[in-house]
Amino acid sequence: MMFAAPSKRLVFIAPVLIPLLAVLAGCGGETTAPAGDAPPVLAERHDNFEAISDNFKAIRAQLEGESPDLAAIEAAAIDINQRAERISGHFPEGTGRDAGWDTEALPTIWEKPEEFTAAQQKLLEESAAMMTLAASGDAAAVGAQVAELGGACKNCHDTFRLDDD
Ligand code: HEC
Repeated sequence: MMFAAPSKRLVFIAPVLIPLLAVLAGCGGETTAPAGDAPPVLAERHDNFEAISDNFKAIRAQLEGESPDLAAIEAAAIDINQRAERISGHFPEGTGRDAGWDTEALPTIWEKPEEFTAAQQKLLEESAAMMTLAASGDAAAVGAQVAELGGACKNCHDTFRLDDD
């Protein structure tokens, strides 16, 4: 009657169940993280996007004010433009979620490299347009361009990033 008592059954099930639960608790059932430290490029692209985001927020904050500082907006747009240049260099093969890293970079980045480059190009163009408009002193045009700039973020995130926030 060895298997009749539930308490004894648990002893046999536990070694199977506990690792299984551990796997299920892991982020969305992705593959296990590769051995070793994450490649430094993951932190580099994270910092780059955070800075892009800070600049974008700074532009929006200016536009919410009574008299937006167009020089500050121009400077933020220049920084976004320069950081946009670096995006393509921040995604070497094997640094996506499918490789097991803790990242929001979807496999589509490497499956559709031309579309990813086009999305990067769109950010370059929209940030350059923002620079030009801010330099021209046309606050209304700058205000309209912020939607285009935000659209360039969303355009890429929709296809290539896990969460869109
Ligand atoms: C060409 C594609 C692309 C464009 C354009 C783009 N992003 Fe991203 N963004 C990504 C990807 C991919 C990630 C996920 C990176 C990762 O997790 O490794 C990301 C992550 C982020 C993050 C999270 C930072 C992190 O790594 O945790 C923020 C914030 C962000 N983007 C803001 C923006 C803003 C704001 C814009 C537009 C001004 C923008 N992005 C434009 C692709 C893009």
